[in-house]
Amino acid sequence: MAIRVFAPAKVNLTLHVTGQRADGYHLLDSLVVFADVGDVVTAVDGAGLTLDVTGPEAGDVPSGESNSILQAARFLGVDDVAFSLEKHLPTAAGIGGGTADASATLQAVAQLRGVDIPADVLPLGADVPVCLRGCATRMSGIGEELADVDGLPDIWAVLVNPRVGVSTPEVFKRLQSKDNRPMPDEIPAFETVRDLAGWLAEQRNDLEAAAIEVQPKVAEVLSVLQQAVGQLLTRMSGSGATCFAIFSDEKSAKGAAQEISTQHPDWWVRNTRLGGKNL
Ligand code: C5P
Repeated sequence: MAIRVFAPAKVNLTLHVTGQRADGYHLLDSLVVFADVGDVVTAVDGAGLTLDVTGPEAGDVPSGESNSILQAARFLGVDDVAFSLEKHLPTAAGIGGGTADASATLQAVAQLRGVDIPADVLPLGADVPVCLRGCATRMSGIGEELADVDGLPDIWAVLVNPRVGVSTPEVFKRLQSKDNRPMPDEIPAFETVRDLAGWLAEQRNDLEAAAIEVQPKVAEVLSVLQQAVGQLLTRMSGSGATCFAIFSDEKSAKGAAQEISTQHPDWWVRNTRLGGKNL
């Protein structure tokens, strides 16, 4: 039996850093949604633990101990599964590539073996719990407090990565923002994507400035997206370098993606609907 699980890119529409724990981890308040682009993890019974990687972004996937699929399999105590990964998401990109793969692995192994996914998956990565949900979520704590967000409209967006990896610990280390304000207590229901973009404009990604210090190309990507025709809101996702812009409709998102791809053929550019299983 082969189990195939889609591992969508996660996008942080907001990412407020609200504090820091004694162990160094940062407290966050983030509105997370999922794209319709992603990786695909397949699991079948195997002799030993193996991983075969294919797809357009296969080149940068780490093999061995640090691979998030093998880590997730070991976390479940599995040593006899053959995994295949179809890699479409750039790595170290702020859209949860490795985390999405780890979450998909937990789901695939759970189905293959008929076992439950453990309640505490945080040791595999702070974004693993939200990726397991795969739906529009308000995420807080360091990633363990999750609440459904309903009332988001259809969101058409363009994701752009300049094909440079950004180290998440490096960005957190350089974080200087002392704003610390969370999002408002209530995330309103939005009638239109323009309403959503207006509300998002008052929120932040507190990691943007630090990410630009680590990788100045992030500023260039933000600027290119800000100039795209029909763009309503532009922001970085996670710790970068992927940034997104929200558009009023699918046609403008597609047009902008085409234009940016033509101008920057070496960049990773995708138009996508953002949402999740609950939208
Ligand atoms: O858990 P994850 O592997 O995604 O985190 C990578 C690194 O990012 C952590 O080791 C930590 O330095 C930083 N981080 C943080 N606060 C978070 C999430 C990650 O400081 N909430």
